[in-house]
Formats: sequence, structure tokens, C-alpha cells
Amino acid sequence: MRSFPYLLFLCLRSWSAVDAAADGSGYFMYVDFWCSVGSRQQLEYLIDWYFNEEYTMRYNSTVGDWTGFTAAGLITAAAFNEDKHDVLQRKVEKQMMCVDNVAKILQVIEENFVEPSVTLAETSRRGPNVTLECSAYDFYPKLIRVAWLRDGQEVTSGVTFSEAMTNGDWTYQVHSYLELRPGRPGRVSCTVEHASLREPKVHHWDSSVGRSEMGFLVGGVCALLLGAVCLSAGLVKYRRTRSNLL
Ligand SMILES: *[C@@H]1O[C@H](CO)[C@@H](O)[C@H](O)[C@H]1NC(C)=O
Repeated sequence: MRSFPYLLFLCLRSWSAVDAAADGSGYFMYVDFWCSVGSRQQLEYLIDWYFNEEYTMRYNSTVGDWTGFTAAGLITAAAFNEDKHDVLQRKVEKQMMCVDNVAKILQVIEENFVEPSVTLAETSRRGPNVTLECSAYDFYPKLIRVAWLRDGQEVTSGVTFSEAMTNGDWTYQVHSYLELRPGRPGRVSCTVEHASLREPKVHHWDSSVGRSEMGFLVGGVCALLLGAVCLSAGLVKYRRTRSNLL
């Protein structure tokens, strides 16, 4: 079972407008048929009915009948709900327009799933501030979640995201940046959730790079001090030798 929902919203629509006035006075009946898709399980068939630009009633397949919003809408809705043929027709429409189409669309999406490849790197170091970049490359579909964790807790401050960018084919890439301020140690990691993955991909940042640089600095200072000690010892000996000779 996939934990990450990859369809935030998918909408299938069709319209129908009918001139309802015999004398051509411009009274129009306008009907909007649509499917709202959250996932395979969350499928809703809706019909929005307008008369003369007024929203009069709606059919909602989850409710299973029509709801009127105006005086005329209430009367029509009640009449439609009484009608056995109307009830059956809406069920057939839902199957044809929503269930069958959505199954095909989801199948095509799933056949083309591509896993993101994830990298985590240090991009810049300004004084003690370090910026980390977590990148996800070459994934499909577009919906993805990149999050930062410090010791298992989600970090939200100091985080910036790029939009999911197209690669020119059907795949996408996305980048997320975390600015690490000094004095906040802890284990930092980047997690990526995507529909193609059963488990999130987790990358830990190896802060030892920073530490070894610190090591060089300490080593350098020690060498410098040692050099200074040797030099002054040498000078003292040189002076002694010189004064002995004179
Ligand atoms: C359809 O009805 C259900 C149940 O009342 C509701 O949760 C859902 O939001 C409705 N759909 C729309 C698009 O309003």
C-alpha cells in the first residue's frame, strides 16, 4: 500500500448550455458535469445546474440525490429525486464519466512512475552559517514532498523550496535548501516522499566535513605555536653562542 497520495486533485468536466427561452430573450440553462477525484477511493460525480446565471441545484453522488438552492431549484430537485430513471441515469453517468475514465488515467500515471534520485550536499558556508541542498531528480508524477528533520523533528525555519521544475521530458526535479545556524547541533536529515516509493528516502548530513575543517584550523594554530617556540629557542641559543664567542 502506498502511503503518499499523488493526486491532489484531478477534475474531469463537460458542459452543456441550452437556450431555454422560446422568444430568444436570452434565458439560458447551463449544466456543468464534473468528477472530483482525490484518489481511486475518493471519487465524486457532480452536476451543477444554472438557470439564467443563477445556481439553482446540484447533484452530488456522495449524497446520492439533488439539492435545490432556489425556490425553482427546490421544486426541480424534489421532482428529479422522485424519478427512478433519473436516479439510475446518474449512477450510469458516474460509472462512465468518472469511474472508468479515472481508472484509465490512474493506470497511465502508475505505469509511468519514476523514482526520484536524491542528493544531499553543502552548497555554501558563509562564516559559521552552512546551507544544505537536498535535491530530487528525474521523478514522475510531479507531486513530491521534501522535508528536513533534526533529531527526528521536522524543521521549518530556514527552509526554502524551488518549484517542481520540468526536465523537458515528462519528469521533474525539485530542490530544497536548509540554512543551518551555528550552535544548533543535532542529526540533520532530508526525507523525500513520492508515490513511486514505498518508504520515504532519507539522507543524513555528515557534519564531520565541518569538523575536519575545524581540525585543520586547530592543527595549523598548534604548528604555528610550535614553530614560534622552536624559533625563539633557536634565537636564544644563537645569542648565547654568539655572546660566548665574543
Ligand atoms: C458532496 O457531498 C459530500 C457529503 O455531504 C461532501 O462531503 C462533499 O464535500 C460534497 N462534494 C462537493 C464537491 O461539494
